[in-house]
Amino acid sequence: MKILAIETSCDETALALVEAKGGISEGEKPKFKVAKNLVTSQIAIHRPFGGVVPNLAKREHIKNLPILFEELFDGSPDKGMKKIDAVTVTVGPGLEPALWTGINFAQEISKKYKKPLIGANHLEGHLYSFLLDHKGKLQFPALGMVVSGGHTIFLLMKSLTEWKKLGETRDDAVGEAFDKVARLLQLPYPGGPEVEKLAKDGDRNAIPFPRPMVHTKDYDFSYSGLKTSVLYYLRDNPEANKANIAASFQQAAFEVLITKGIRATKEYGIKSVILAGGVAASRTLREMLSEACIKSKLKLLVPGFEFNTDNAAMIAAGAYVSHLKKKKYRIKANGTLNM
Ligand code: KG4
Ligand code: ZN
Repeated sequence: MKILAIETSCDETALALVEAKGGISEGEKPKFKVAKNLVTSQIAIHRPFGGVVPNLAKREHIKNLPILFEELFDGSPDKGMKKIDAVTVTVGPGLEPALWTGINFAQEISKKYKKPLIGANHLEGHLYSFLLDHKGKLQFPALGMVVSGGHTIFLLMKSLTEWKKLGETRDDAVGEAFDKVARLLQLPYPGGPEVEKLAKDGDRNAIPFPRPMVHTKDYDFSYSGLKTSVLYYLRDNPEANKANIAASFQQAAFEVLITKGIRATKEYGIKSVILAGGVAASRTLREMLSEACIKSKLKLLVPGFEFNTDNAAMIAAGAYVSHLKKKKYRIKANGTLNM
């Protein structure tokens, strides 16, 4: 199945061409070949505002979509579309004005070229992104850790397609906390990579920031208090070393994820851990989690860097898996769609 995937849920306009095959029954695994994965980031446009402005995102998506569509097929979309079996587009969660631009574009293409249109869940895209470059066998039960700018979710996965949500954040997502702390430290948007860069020159044990909910028995999270602690620390210590703040905040944020993650693997007899979402682009988190997984003899599955932050190849992967399990999403923007 040759899939054209479209993603416009936030501030990345993304299109991809992905070939998918294989099933989801016992012992089987879907296989993907990513032919093209185009992403146009709007970072420079939103940066002066310190975050994503929905109407600016919408305007940019409308401008970028036809350009990327041409580029995807090397300037001959009419010829290229002949080989496509299905079009898929993110229907949620995300910013609704932004989601609609992708949906409208996908509907136009699907009609013009007479191709079926599949709605995709952005979070399932993140979760299944590891399949895009995964080799070898999958081992279940698995712990799915979806960590992004909008979500912090732990899933107990009995198989590739059967899962139960163990917990999620009660307020800010972990990526959101990085973005907000970056703003407090006067670092540009998006904050995650900037905080990680600055943290390299700091001491992660310099400031004892709280580890919110690390010892609660559930698998819920709360990152808004941690951000507020950074705010108060800066207010009371205006001359403090910013690299130490970045490193200590990062350590606190990730320690909670890893401590609770490893506890879940013990409680549920987990064999592998899947790390997904934009925050998985953090080398620091990858290293910390990898060390913890080696210690606990767990297999860690993390997709390559190009598939962590928002992209359309992951949307093709998510759509293909939900298509195989016959789960259908309405072709309508749903800003609060969950897993
Ligand atoms: O998945 P994504 O591209 O968008 C959402 O679906 O939310 O995730 C973006 C988030 C942002 O909050 C960004 O700051 C965070 O991922 N992020 C990081 C790093 N790189 C990206 N957070 C911490 N460390 C990083 N290196
Ligand atoms: Zn995302």
